[in-house]
Amino acid sequence: MIGPNGPTVGAIWAQNPQGIIGKDGTIPWHVPEDLRFFSSTTTGHPVIMGRRTWESFPPRFRPLPGRPNIVVTSRPETVAGDGDNVWTAASYAQALELALSLLDDPNGEIWAIGGTRIWADALAHEALPLTRAYVTTVDLAVEGDTVAPRLDDTWRQRELADWAESSKGPRFRMDEYTRR
Ligand SMILES: NC(=O)c1ccc[n+]([C@@H]2O[C@H](COP(=O)([O-])OP(=O)(O)OC[C@H]3O[C@@H](n4cnc5c(N)ncnc54)[C@H](OP(=O)(O)O)[C@@H]3O)[C@@H](O)[C@H]2O)c1
Repeated sequence: MIGPNGPTVGAIWAQNPQGIIGKDGTIPWHVPEDLRFFSSTTTGHPVIMGRRTWESFPPRFRPLPGRPNIVVTSRPETVAGDGDNVWTAASYAQALELALSLLDDPNGEIWAIGGTRIWADALAHEALPLTRAYVTTVDLAVEGDTVAPRLDDTWRQRELADWAESSKGPRFRMDEYTRR
């Protein structure tokens, strides 16, 4: 689905209007429509995440099925043994190398699924920086301890889905951000 010019790295997250994405190791809302969007976007592609994001998934839901899971951690023993289809890496750069080696399509997609340092490293990566971000905004006033990256004005915004009400209550919208 993404361009014909080699592999790409995208980011995907859900935030509230203030940019909050997490609280106490979890996501402070439940929007099943967004979980389905996350799943359909990332399934079939390697996903790179930090250890706390890995730990935020209930053990029965990890590794996320149908996609190679790569967890960045200095403590691989906390991840090992959780099952097949999960790798650890000591840095974002190492995780990206691994993800590239796992692609079977030379124009394949890799998804950086959080948290904060993973996205910061992905944005700053020289050879293969982020060029796409899918951002769901959930219209809830919540407290949190983890925030989304700020995308500066080099990014172009395109609406994917206008405000709609989740079956679980909160309003949400979806945007795509791209840059060359
Ligand atoms: N709303 C959303 O879309 C969304 C998405 C993702 C996560 N979240 C939430 O965000 C929170 C987790 O995110 P977080 O930012 O706190 O943590 P995180 O990035 O998931 O994990 C942090 C840990 O990962 C390792 N790590 C991450 N980046 C690294 C890097 N570049 N180089 C080396 N090691 C790195 C380190 O592990 P070690 O300590 O093992 O060395 C670090 O302590 C949770 O609340 C989760 O639910 C929300």
